[in-house]
Amino acid sequence: MAIRSAIRRLLPTPLLRLVRRLRHGRHHELKVFTAGLLPLPVYRELTAVVAAAPRGRDIIEVGGAAGTATISMAWGLDPVPGGGGRIVVVEKCEGGTRTPYGGWEENRARFERFVRDYGVADRVILYPHYLTLENGAEVRSLVERRPLAGLLCDADGWVHRDLFLFGELLAADSFVVIDDYHPHFSPKHEVTFAVVNRLIEEGVFVPRKLVDETSFGAIGRPMTRELHDECEGIARNVCRRLGVVFDIRGMSPAEPPPAG
Ligand SMILES: C[S@@+](CC[C@H](N)C(=O)[O-])C[C@H]1O[C@@H](n2cnc3c(N)ncnc32)[C@H](O)[C@@H]1O
Repeated sequence: MAIRSAIRRLLPTPLLRLVRRLRHGRHHELKVFTAGLLPLPVYRELTAVVAAAPRGRDIIEVGGAAGTATISMAWGLDPVPGGGGRIVVVEKCEGGTRTPYGGWEENRARFERFVRDYGVADRVILYPHYLTLENGAEVRSLVERRPLAGLLCDADGWVHRDLFLFGELLAADSFVVIDDYHPHFSPKHEVTFAVVNRLIEEGVFVPRKLVDETSFGAIGRPMTRELHDECEGIARNVCRRLGVVFDIRGMSPAEPPPAG
C-alpha cells in the first residue's frame, strides 16, 4: 500500500492518468481526475445512451458540476468534426458541492479546463448560471439543433422545472435521464422521487432502465404548466415535511422559528 502511494506521488500526472486509463478504462480515469459525483456505471451508460441516440442533435444537461457527465456524453457524440451534436450545460458554478473548488470564477474555469483537457470543448457550451423558470428561454436559445437528442437532469431535484423548460424540445426518440431517483437517500432524492413518480403516473416521463439512482427513459407526452405547478406543490410539501428549504443553495435545514 505504502509503495503504491509512493509510486502515485512520484509519477507525473499525465503518466499517472495514462496508467489509470489503461488499467481501469477511460471512464474510471475521468471520474477520478474530475472528481465526478455519479457512480461509474452511470457514466458508462451515458456514453452508450448518447451513442445510440439520433445523430446530429444537441443535448441539454442541467447540473454539469465539473463536467464528468458532460465529457462522458461527449464521448458518445458523432465523432465527425462539425458533424453536429453539442451539449448545452447549465451549471451555477458556485455553492454546495462546488464550494471546495472556489467561487464562480474558479468553478467555471475548472469546468472549461476539463472539457478542453479531454478534447471535447468544441462540443460543449456552458451556461454558467442558476437555472430558473425566468432564464430557461436563454438556455433554449443556445440549442441549434432541434429536437434534442436528449436531456440530463442532475441539478437540485427540481426536475419538473427542467422538463417544463426543455420538454418541448424533446421528441419521442430523445432520451431523458434523471438522477437522484431514490425514496430516502437525502431530501433532494425524496423530492425527485415524489415528483418523478407523479410524472410517470401522468405518462410524461417513461422510465426504461435504472442504473444505481439514475433513471434512464424518454418523454411520453408534453409537460403542461398545470402539471408543473402541481409538481411544484408536491416538491414544496416534501421539503416542508422534511424541514428543509429550497433555494439557490439547494435544500438546506429550515431556520427554527424565533423563540417566544
Ligand atoms: C450532483 S451535481 C452534478 C454532478 C455531475 N453531473 C457529475 O457528473 O459529477 C449537481 C450540480 O448542479 C448544480 N446546480 C444545482 N442547482 C442548479 C440550478 N438550479 N442551476 C444550475 N446548476 C445547478 C450544482 O452546482 C452542482 O454542480
